[in-house]
Parts: sequence; structure tokens; C-alpha cells
Amino acid sequence: MRPFHGRRILLGVTGGIASYKTAWLARLLSQAGAEVDTVMTKSAREFIGAVTFEALTGRPVHTELVAEGSALDHIRLAQAAELVVVAPATADFLARAAGGRSDDLLAACLLATKAPVLLVPAMNDMMWAHQQTIANVAHLRSIGYTVLDPDTGPLASPQEGAGAGRMPEPDTIFAQVGRMLEPKGALNGKRVVVTAGPTRESLDPVRFLSNYSSGKMGVAIAAAAWRRGAEVTLIAGPLSITPPLGMRALDVESTSDMANAVRSELSTADVLVMAAAPADFKPATVAVAKIKKTTRPEALAIEETPDILKSTRDARRPGSVIVGFALETDDVMAHAAEKLRAKELDLIVVNDAREPGAGFGGDTNRVTIMAPNAEPVALPLMSKAEVADAILDRVEALLGGR
Ligand code: CTP
Repeated sequence: MRPFHGRRILLGVTGGIASYKTAWLARLLSQAGAEVDTVMTKSAREFIGAVTFEALTGRPVHTELVAEGSALDHIRLAQAAELVVVAPATADFLARAAGGRSDDLLAACLLATKAPVLLVPAMNDMMWAHQQTIANVAHLRSIGYTVLDPDTGPLASPQEGAGAGRMPEPDTIFAQVGRMLEPKGALNGKRVVVTAGPTRESLDPVRFLSNYSSGKMGVAIAAAAWRRGAEVTLIAGPLSITPPLGMRALDVESTSDMANAVRSELSTADVLVMAAAPADFKPATVAVAKIKKTTRPEALAIEETPDILKSTRDARRPGSVIVGFALETDDVMAHAAEKLRAKELDLIVVNDAREPGAGFGGDTNRVTIMAPNAEPVALPLMSKAEVADAILDRVEALLGGR
């Protein structure tokens, strides 16, 4: 099913050049199944036509506080909305919203709604940095509105600077909408640390030992936890995919770097999900200069890297939920059960690397979830996003019971 099927979103558009990107946002929301009611200010209509939004959302666009035949559009629209998104929100609109004005349809809708409000500023970098705007944003946040920070980078007009002021991309806004529409469970507001990807162990300045992990499973878990309202830190080795939006990301290289990062995050974490595939071995010595063909060693001496889950046990917070993975090729359940015990985990997600559709690199996974003193639960072949949700449902059940 489409993720926002039947959800009512009021999309406000104010007068900024970034409104051309809002058209794409309207399309993303409609394609996800949302019923999007667009409200445009007068100046928005100087930048982009109402008919564009009408065509993209398949619904009429509203512009007037007192429209022909109805003086109560703002009440009706505001009450039907499950979420109000204003993108772009100009400096002028932020000022009017902060002042509680109701002098046009969009401002009146903000006052008449009980729905959560997401404001997506876009303006010249000097205007964003001005004390007036800073004070308005602080006030809007203090009354519970979510105000995204604008991006840094070239603004629409070539004459303008490159400080913060650019409207975040439609994908970023769409992800934030997903987070705000998600029903909130036990992960809401919790600190979740997720590790993802492989690590690398240097052999010389140009070579390393690693593995085929892509990071997709860990990234899917981080994205799903963020959508459920968690404050997520992603500790990532070199990933083959772009990390998700909206969360704090710590990039690491070696297994001991990852162990250090996990240790420092654990003291404040409610949940740790070790989805990474840290390199288990490292060359016993790292050559300072590139190893030439003429100086090739006969064999490589290798050593074990630290076991991150085991070596950081003492840093865990009492009551935190710790989830590990097990990648096995034989005697799968017995090995996984042993890891569950030895690493003192609350859950272990078991992958049989030889199953079709499971393991590294792909977009699907077939896993079994094990917990101490419980029957293992074998899940069918699913997308990694669905596996992430299945894992987090169990994490929420554990958190709820603590
Ligand atoms: N893990 C870890 N530190 C390592 C290696 C793995 O914390 N140096 C974590 C993984 O992130 C995973 C779990 O331990 O959550 C099991 O990883 P797996 O590779 O299946 O097992 P290993 O402990 O490495 O044991 P083996 O390779 O002998 O099966």
C-alpha cells in the first residue's frame, strides 16, 4: 500500500522562487497516496501557477480567505488536515506566522488547525541570518512548530550569496513528512545508535582487508527508527549507498574506530543495533609505503580485531536494548544462539548467507529473529525496509516493557 494512503496534508506555498521545487514535493506526496490541499498566498501565484498544483494533486487550489460561496474555507481546510506543510516559507511568512496573523488564507489556516505544522524556510542568506528571523524561528519552534534549517549552497539568483537559505530538497521534506505522520510508539524521542556497512583494515597506504557489506540493512534500520521519531546516530563504515537524510552520521574506517564510536555513543543510547559487518581480521603489520611487487610477502600475517559488541558491554546503559546480527553459512541457528548468549543481546537477527535473496548487497533479506528464552521467528523474504520495521516492532515491544 502507498505509505500516505488517504492522509490529508495541507500544503501551503508562499512567494519564493523555491516554489518550483514545491511542485515536485506535491507530486511526491500525491504519489504516496496523500490527499493534498494546496493553499497559495497571493505572492506565491506570481512565482508559480495554481494550475500546476491542481494538476499534480488532482484537487482544487485555495487562494482566498473569503472565496466566492464560502467564507469558512480556512476552518474546513485547517480541520481536515492531519499535517500542515509550508514550503517555501518566506521570511515574511515566518514573521506573520510568529505574530499570529490571520490576514490571508494560509495564515488563518495555521491558527485554525490542531495538526502538527512543518515550516520549510527559503530565503536570501542575509535574511535567514537576521536577528528578526532568528527570533521568529525560535518563537515558532517554542510553540511546537517544526522548522527545518535551510540548506547551504548556491541560491536561485546568481547574484545572491551561498550561505544558508536554500530550501531543502523535496526528498528531505518528504522524509520529514513521513516522520511527522508516523504513529508514535516506544521509539519516539529515544536515542538509537545503528552501525552499518563494512569496516576496512589497512595493509598499506593503498590496500585494505574488508568484506562485501553494502550497508543497506543498517541504513534501512536507521531510516525506519528516525521515521518512528527516534534521535538516530548512524555509525557507518564506507557505504555503497547514500546515507539517509535527517540523522547524525559518524563515518569510521576500521573496526577499532567503530568500536570507539560505539563506546562513546552507548552511554546515552536507549537502543544499539549492530547491523555493521566489521572486518574481523587485520594485517598484523601495516606497511608505511606501498608494497611493491618486488617486495611481495610470501604470506600475510593477520590478527583479530576487537569484537565490538563484547568489548563495549561495560558501556551499555541499564535497560538499553541491544540488537546484533549473525551472518552464518552452516549450523546457522546453533551459531546464532551462541552469539546471542556470548554477546549478551536482547535480539539477534539471523541471516543465512547461502539463502537466495538474503545477505549482502541486495534489496531483500530473509531473516529469523531470536531472543533469549523464546522460540525463533522465521520471517518470509521481504524488502530490507520491511525487515527493518519487523526488527523495530520487536525493539519497541522490549522498550515498552522496561
Ligand atoms: N560484530 C562485532 N564486532 C566484530 C564483528 C562482529 O560487534 N568485530 C557484531 C556484528 O555487527 C553482528 C554480530 O557481532 O551484530 C555478529 O557478527 P558475525 O559476523 O555474524 O559474527 P562474529 O562475531 O564476527 O563471529 P564469526 O565471524 O566467527 O561468525
